[in-house]
Amino acid sequence: MKHETLEKNIGLMSILIVIAISFGGLVEIIPLMNQKAATEPSPGLHLRNALETAGRDVYVREGCYGCHSQQVRSLAEEVLRYGPAANAGESVYDHPFQWGSKRTGPDLSRIGGRYSDAWHRIHLLHPQDVVPESNMPGYRWLDEQHFDPGEVADMMKALRRVGVPYTDADIAGADEAVSYKTKLDALIAYLQTLRAPVAPPSSTAPAPVAANPAGKIS
Ligand code: HEC
Repeated sequence: MKHETLEKNIGLMSILIVIAISFGGLVEIIPLMNQKAATEPSPGLHLRNALETAGRDVYVREGCYGCHSQQVRSLAEEVLRYGPAANAGESVYDHPFQWGSKRTGPDLSRIGGRYSDAWHRIHLLHPQDVVPESNMPGYRWLDEQHFDPGEVADMMKALRRVGVPYTDADIAGADEAVSYKTKLDALIAYLQTLRAPVAPPSSTAPAPVAANPAGKIS
């Protein structure tokens, strides 16, 4: 077939373009689906408890991902600023994952332990109280909202269906774990879990380098 015929027949060309692109996609995607590092939890990956899981739901509901990514690229300046580069295995419990690409604010995937709970509380209620030039909005209502009975247990059941290894006991204890907590408490507990997984000492995998030691305010 002459190339000219192809260029003049937009229907046929579209079909061939789709086929060509899907080959490119398959070559990239299929090997990834079989790679252990991308489908199995990274060594030392933290399994979030009920309160932290509830906080993650608040994070997604409030659309924090609209301004914050959770993926440190493997570029020197990112690693120096945020900490160890991301790998897919640290997101296997995240449904949906929060990698993102929009950074109006900084990446948050290594924010855990960098500030106290009290700092987060002030910052989330009114960011300008601690960072005067901040254009992040305040989330004052979170301090007045609580979780409905059964709400967090349902979240955990849904996550278990897609492979997060919660036990029946984890789910049964969910209501009690969040009963006196506000959505702000839960969100802060979640933010404190955001850090690079550290492999237990027995593991043969090399432990990630902590570029941002816990507690260091940068
Ligand atoms: C309109 C964009 C925007 C939205 C939406 C937003 N942020 Fe921010 N965030 C920022 C900016 C800009 C900064 C940097 C200034 C500051 O610290 O306030 C920031 C900073 C932060 C920091 C401190 C990061 C650091 O390294 O110092 C945390 C934690 C944070 N945001 C959490 C959240 C959470 C949780 C939500 C959702 C409830 C959220 N943000 C929603 C823009 C946003």
